[in-house]
Amino acid sequence: MYPLTIGLAIENRELLDQAQACLQGLPFRVIVEHQDVGDLSNFLDRLERMRPDVVLVDISSWREPLEGLVASIRNAVGDPMIIALHIAADADTILASLRAGINEFLYPPLQEPLRKSLEKRSIERSRRSSSTKGAGKSYGFLSAKGGCGATTLACHVAAELGRQNQKVLLMDLDLDAGLVGFITKTKSVYSILDAVNNLHRLDIHYWKALVSNGIPGVEIVASPLALGSKQQLKDEQVRHVLGFARPNYDWTLVDLGRSLSRLAMAALEEIDEACLVTTLEVPALHQSKQIIQTLLDSGYGKHRLKLILNRAPKRLDITPGDLEKMLGVPIYCMVPNDYPELYEAYAEGRMLTRNSELGKHIAKLAVKLGGLEEESGKSKRFALFG
Ligand SMILES: Nc1ncnc2c1ncn2[C@@H]1O[C@H](COP(=O)(O)OP(=O)(O)OP(=O)(O)O)[C@@H](O)[C@H]1O
Ligand SMILES: [Mg+2]
Repeated sequence: MYPLTIGLAIENRELLDQAQACLQGLPFRVIVEHQDVGDLSNFLDRLERMRPDVVLVDISSWREPLEGLVASIRNAVGDPMIIALHIAADADTILASLRAGINEFLYPPLQEPLRKSLEKRSIERSRRSSSTKGAGKSYGFLSAKGGCGATTLACHVAAELGRQNQKVLLMDLDLDAGLVGFITKTKSVYSILDAVNNLHRLDIHYWKALVSNGIPGVEIVASPLALGSKQQLKDEQVRHVLGFARPNYDWTLVDLGRSLSRLAMAALEEIDEACLVTTLEVPALHQSKQIIQTLLDSGYGKHRLKLILNRAPKRLDITPGDLEKMLGVPIYCMVPNDYPELYEAYAEGRMLTRNSELGKHIAKLAVKLGGLEEESGKSKRFALFG
């Protein structure tokens, strides 16, 4: 059975006793326990830090619209199962709960129905983790030279995979200019540095407290804010953290920053494939060639390298074949140039939408990387876009 984690806010004594009696007999762990449902912001803060799989909330004395409560919980945790508990089976409240998006509504006696709901969720989660496409696959995003778009692509690919119900980890290992937190609007106070400083107690509960969420389905580890953190990270510590984290996700995406740093090289040993993001600018192509050569020389298999041509103009002066000859690896995908769209999104404090042209192309890249859809039989030239 999948080992669910549970967060609960139960004020009513009878409901609390019955829920605890039920949970004591099950192999699930309560990681957030709260008794004052009125003190919602404290509960939400703790949920956001611990991110349980299931949230049990006592709505017996909740007087506000339930939609607001559900939205706040989902905002804090992502997509947990929400079980509303109530002292009575009032038809209007049951209907209002279901309309608000609460997964289950339970009332005393709780023991049997609560056990069944949790076991059902646990079985679903086990099935999901054994049938997922990625099953722990990881991609490292490298910018050939500064500003080629590695961070932009890593963040938006993560968002798209999350949207497709994949469980994604997005980790910022760009210790010079990590922008993952900014783009994804993550409020995290923790970073990879906290993980490496606590390797001795790195377990799933500690990890869940460390990651934060800014995008549904995506857990994020932002870059350390403190300058000089690079010196504090040892290669083997970073590999240890990556090795620990990736089996817990369908996909792990890592922003490795620009060029090929020592830390990026070390991390790549733990990462299945490298997405090298370049543009057509001559210095970027020059750097790409160097990086590809260094990786191949160090034994990194050619099949593990995915070359992504970002900010591609509508008309290429050079054919994809010539580029491949020049760089030694084929172009995996091209993403068009669309600065105004990105500028507008960031100015409004959001990420690209899937309806925008650039958003659509990056979504196609995510689908291709995730092997989530058969490639269509479009002409070769256009198939490369996305
Ligand atoms: N396809 C695109 N079209 C237009 N602008 C883009 C595109 N991709 C990225 N950009 C813009 O290019 C700039 C650099 O992008 P980003 O920060 O993702 O690059 P990077 O490779 O991570 O850079 P760094 O080396 O600083 O980490 C940003 O202003 C971003 O909005
Ligand atoms: Mg970057």
